[in-house]
Amino acid sequence: MEKIPAHIAIIMDGNGRWAEAQGKDRCDGHIEGVVSVKACIKAARKRGVRYLTLYAFSTENWGRPQEEVDALMQLFCASVTKETPELVEQGVQVRIIGRRDRFSEEVRERLLHIEKSTAGGDKLTLALAFDYSSRDELVRATRAIAAKVESGELSAEDINDEIISAHLDTADMPDPDFIIRTSGECRLSNFLLWQASYAEMYFPQTMWPEFREEAFDKALEVYAERNRRFGVL
Ligand code: FPP
Repeated sequence: MEKIPAHIAIIMDGNGRWAEAQGKDRCDGHIEGVVSVKACIKAARKRGVRYLTLYAFSTENWGRPQEEVDALMQLFCASVTKETPELVEQGVQVRIIGRRDRFSEEVRERLLHIEKSTAGGDKLTLALAFDYSSRDELVRATRAIAAKVESGELSAEDINDEIISAHLDTADMPDPDFIIRTSGECRLSNFLLWQASYAEMYFPQTMWPEFREEAFDKALEVYAERNRRFGVL
């Protein structure tokens, strides 16, 4: 396989529907979804993908029933803590994108801990989008840029693509080449709207808990067949 995307971003969708179809609780779908997260990290590393971004919790997800939000927070904390040694061993650097201010102290500390512990990883950067939405990210970036204009550090004329990109949570990461959303839904739902400008998109029917190595490899095949022109002939 020749054309491997440097950066894959995934909207992990369909945990709830997968669980309901099996007569299980929605949270069982999220638990099974963690197995897919691990499978995709391994597959990405194996195939030479350098950046993998996963949409784990959107700013809109706070609106879910409290019981499900609590279960998701617990699952994130437990999984990141349990998986840290293996991520370090695999050379995976974890980076968290999104807001931090609405998490409990415990969640914030665990996120900081996994970022610090994996900082030396140089095989794969894993960006986990937690309490993330693209509009929120753009608002925060715009405020930061405006503050620099106000203080005289920047002038309005200095603002360009690079300046905006450098103020996003994904600063220093290349834009995603390939965005996958599982479960057959065909929308971006406030995910990487700026960064997705030239990304190829793929919407397999597979529910996230069933998106494992084979499905990941199939996605790479789909990408390899695409012809990216970036607006040029
Ligand atoms: C969308 O499925 C999925 C989520 C809101 C949560 C995704 C989280 C995980 C897979 C766990 C990830 C854990 C780590 C450590 C990264 P949905 O519930 O919206 O499914 P539905 O559309 O079928 O209801």
